[in-house]
Amino acid sequence: MSLDLLSVRAAECVGCRLSERRTNVVFGEGNPQSPLVLVGEGPGEEEDKTGRPFVGRAGQLLDRALAECSLDRTQVYICNTVKCRAADWSTGKPRNRPPSEDEVAACRQWLLPQLATIAPTVILCIGAPSAKNLIKPDFRITKERGGFFRSRYSRAIMATLHPAYILRQNSATYDGGFSLLVEDIAKAWRTANELRAAGKVEPTFVEVDV
Ligand code: URA
Repeated sequence: MSLDLLSVRAAECVGCRLSERRTNVVFGEGNPQSPLVLVGEGPGEEEDKTGRPFVGRAGQLLDRALAECSLDRTQVYICNTVKCRAADWSTGKPRNRPPSEDEVAACRQWLLPQLATIAPTVILCIGAPSAKNLIKPDFRITKERGGFFRSRYSRAIMATLHPAYILRQNSATYDGGFSLLVEDIAKAWRTANELRAAGKVEPTFVEVDV
């Protein structure tokens, strides 16, 4: 199925309770021909409003990290683990929360065909929920980020820190992990291009997919 048709179908999804409160399904955007796909966690308030991935504060930090690698959004494809905003509405004012396991599982019906259609050379998981979904359920983001794993969705897959986590860690004396995010994006981009140019050569994996 084409990406356009997939996104039209996803826009009508009622596969989990996140559909009840969403404004927009945030399917993904960028260059579907890119060798590199970034998969985040899920839309926040700004993304829900606009229908575009990573446009809030975390997204602005991601744009800065891409720019440090001399990249912009037109050179990669960006999407999320879940396509609708996960929020806690119990106090009346919605607060973003991580998607639950069943919400992540329900949204694989969109994410997996999306990845299969794009067929990226490298996937970069942004944050732990994405890495747990696409690499292995017990993925430890601080220990295992920056290394390549084998994947059934791409030639290689890696995870990095989520910009929202970096914003929380950031202090006067620590960049919160921003330099690691830049390092990981640069490595993922370089490897994606090298693998695509080399055709069949495999990278060195640190672990086998489960
Ligand atoms: N965080 C994500 O993981 N994805 C977005 O689209 C925005 C913030």
